[in-house]
This record gives sequence, structure tokens and C-alpha cells, in this order.
Amino acid sequence: MKKLLAVMFFAGSVVLFSSLTARADGAGEALFKKKMCFACHGAGKMGGDLATSKLDKAAMDKFLKDPKAANPKSAMPAFKGTEEERAALVDYVMGLRK
Ligand code: HEC
Repeated sequence: MKKLLAVMFFAGSVVLFSSLTARADGAGEALFKKKMCFACHGAGKMGGDLATSKLDKAAMDKFLKDPKAANPKSAMPAFKGTEEERAALVDYVMGLRK
């Protein structure tokens, strides 16, 4: 009986863990779609392919918060969302690099 409980506990943790990591991985991508980033970013689009960006995490976070601080003529709208959402987005965009 003890053994069975241990197995069940283990299986439950695996399911829980994979659903948590799936959420963490998917959040940035979902925001990228929801906030219409893809409308301007991609090969051949006005904002360019973000996989070629050279910004580091901190610079990208700052840029998303206020693109006009980096480039007064920036055509990019500031990202409106929570710190957490912005961090997820930065992680997702950084992950596009090869
Ligand atoms: C209306 C078009 C538009 C939208 C929507 C947009 N961007 Fe941009 N983005 C641009 C343009 C144009 C640039 C090029 C630099 C500039 O104009 O400031 C840029 C630059 C960037 C950069 C800097 C790249 C670099 O290396 O210099 C990042 C990162 C970025 N965008 C991420 C995003 C994310 C994430 C979203 C969604 C929240 C988004 N953008 C939405 C137009 C857009």
C-alpha cells in the first residue's frame, strides 16, 4: 500500500510539474500573439525579425517598457502589462535566437 501511494504521489508530481512548466513556457508566446507583436515582427516586417536582435535581457525589458526612450522616433508602441508579463515576453523573445 505504501508503495502504491508513493507511485501515485510521484506520478502526480510529474503531471503537476509538466503543467507548470508548460504554462511558464507558453506565457510569453501567448502574449506575443495577444499583444499583436507578430503584426510588426517577423522576417520582412517593419519591426524586423526579433531572432536577430542583439539586445540583452535588461535592454530588451527597458525597450518594451518605453521604446521611445531608446529611439524617439520609434514606431513601436510601449508594452502595456505587468512586470511579470513583460518578463515572460522578454524570455520568449530571447528564446527565438538560435
Ligand atoms: C506597430 C508595430 C510594432 C508592434 C505592434 C511591436 N513592435 Fe517591436 N518594434 C517595431 C519597430 C519598427 C522596431 C524597430 C526599432 C524602433 O522603431 O524603435 C521594433 C523593435 C523592437 C525590439 C528591439 C529590437 C532590437 O534589437 O533593436 C524589440 C525587442 C521588440 N520590438 C519587441 C516587440 C514586442 C515583444 C512586441 C509586442 C509586445 C512588439 N515589439 C510590438 C514595431 C512594432
